[in-house]
Amino acid sequence: MPYSDDVAMNRGKFGREDYLKYFDSAVFLKTFHSDIQRNGGGPDALEDDDLTGRRLLDIGTGPTIHTVISASNCCDTIYLSKIAPQNRETLRKWLEGTLQHSFKSFFQYVVDREGKGEIPSGREAMLKDKIVGIFPLDLLQAEPLLPSLFPTFDIITSSLCIEVAAPDLAGYEIIARSVGKLLKEGGHIALFGVLGGSFYQVGSHTFYCLKISGEQVQDIWKRSGFKIVGWKQNASLGQHDTSLSDFEGVFHMVAQKCL
Ligand SMILES: C[S@@+](CC[C@H](N)C(=O)[O-])C[C@H]1O[C@@H](n2cnc3c(N)ncnc32)[C@H](O)[C@@H]1O
Repeated sequence: MPYSDDVAMNRGKFGREDYLKYFDSAVFLKTFHSDIQRNGGGPDALEDDDLTGRRLLDIGTGPTIHTVISASNCCDTIYLSKIAPQNRETLRKWLEGTLQHSFKSFFQYVVDREGKGEIPSGREAMLKDKIVGIFPLDLLQAEPLLPSLFPTFDIITSSLCIEVAAPDLAGYEIIARSVGKLLKEGGHIALFGVLGGSFYQVGSHTFYCLKISGEQVQDIWKRSGFKIVGWKQNASLGQHDTSLSDFEGVFHMVAQKCL
């Protein structure tokens, strides 16, 4: 479905400016990440996928680290990324241990699911040790990670980001191709996202989301040089408050960059 002006006017606008001006990290955390029940999907991004690799990039980390909790077991170093400075500040406070918000229920969920007797605080410390830094990244730029220059990554994770950054389906495909350039040949991307949603609400601000189906997501990644190696789709996500977002389903995808 093409991006329409109606969506831009009524449901927020895509692009960096919207996030710079209106994204309230504290309200986002309180609304969507106060506990695992209100989020449900992100920490599973790498569940059962058995991916390994030395270096991992998380795209659009935002003010939260749930996407990389399970991933911290399967890589040596983690590069977080953000588009809005307020998110960087939140992540910096978390790294320093001064953030008011607690991610404990997310760590608890992951260590319980892995069943190795690890304690949540130990896992949090291990994750912090692996984080190299928080780097600027704009998916709407041809080279999203510039001005940082890094060798290609073994694994890329991303949660609820590409569909809110892409202006339309053609734009989603441009993003998929430029994300592909950040990944090694044979490397993997693990994506968590929503399907059929046109907005999400953070406080009084409505953010845009691209309405996309599961079939469209898979077709785009295949056309962009990836083989889909894992796909899970659900009709809903735990307790879903439709005033906060109108998505119709969620998905986890793991895809491998073709050699
Ligand atoms: C719904 S939040 C998701 C945050 C987090 N990954 C999660 O799963 O909770 C959307 C994220 O997309 C990021 N974002 C929006 N447009 C972007 C763009 N053009 N480039 C990179 N990130 C973008 C925002 O900064 C925000 O952190």
